[in-house]
Amino acid sequence: MADINRIMIEAWNTVLFDKFCRFKHLIADGLSKHSEAALSRCRFPLGAHVLDVGSGFGDCTLLIARSVGLSGSVVGVDCAANFVRAAETDCRDQRVSNAQFVQGDVQECDLRGPYDQAFSRFGTMFFADPDAAMRNVCGALKPGGSFMQIVWRRREDNPWLHEAELRVRDIVPVVSHDATDQVHCGPGPFSMADADSVSTMLQGAGFERISFERHDCDVCIGRDMDDAVDFAMSLGPAGEIIRLAGPDGEKYKPQVISALRDVLQQFRQSGGIWAPSSTWFVTASRPRA
Ligand SMILES: C[S@@+](CC[C@H](N)C(=O)[O-])C[C@H]1O[C@@H](n2cnc3c(N)ncnc32)[C@H](O)[C@@H]1O
Repeated sequence: MADINRIMIEAWNTVLFDKFCRFKHLIADGLSKHSEAALSRCRFPLGAHVLDVGSGFGDCTLLIARSVGLSGSVVGVDCAANFVRAAETDCRDQRVSNAQFVQGDVQECDLRGPYDQAFSRFGTMFFADPDAAMRNVCGALKPGGSFMQIVWRRREDNPWLHEAELRVRDIVPVVSHDATDQVHCGPGPFSMADADSVSTMLQGAGFERISFERHDCDVCIGRDMDDAVDFAMSLGPAGEIIRLAGPDGEKYKPQVISALRDVLQQFRQSGGIWAPSSTWFVTASRPRA
């Protein structure tokens, strides 16, 4: 477990960080379609102390910091030093003084609580030991404190990731995580898609009043077809298969590009490539006593 964890953290700090920087124009916009809806349901009142779990570039952390005002504060925690540094730079540039970014592994680090609320946008799906991470977040909340996380729902309702993965699997030999010494992102984006197992996990971690709200919306996955194919080949399960395949990933590139153009064609609209996507807004609270 310790080894897998180290590999995943290294992946976030290296290959995945580089790819997130390259596709920031799609990721920031696409992910914010879900977080705008989530944040409109989950108010962060003036004076609240909030934790942002797996804060990445910190855009949600900064939005929450503005909402809680100078009498409140937000801590963004992320395992990848590069994401923490990028978030700190944005925080300074935007002159936000009540947000702080900390490098740490949410499964085991001191989260510096207690907090009134915790939030996460797609930051909880990549833990080697999600039970430990959920216990740690619950323990960092004040009694009665709440946690909202946004996670991807099932693959079939996120066809821009799933159909791309199926096409690539047909062409490129799949290298399993056990069979490579390359870094990887562990359980992957759909690890929290099953509401039954996630609610059991949250209960086991000490949470109560657990609820799931489904949120569907189209997200932009490319300014044009070349951008969308490049994005699909770089990130998500399809991108991971291509990267882990090494020379085979390169060898089959022409077939992969043609298959992805074919499958992504259905999402072409006048303003770019827009695909349906689906998430859960999962809310839970730490018991009051
Ligand atoms: C998909 S990104 C989401 C980033 C950000 N919340 C957003 O919405 O843009 C997942 C983030 O979780 C972080 N992460 C993954 N495993 C982690 C762990 N064990 N502890 C802390 N952060 C972790 C990654 O470094 C990455 O920044």
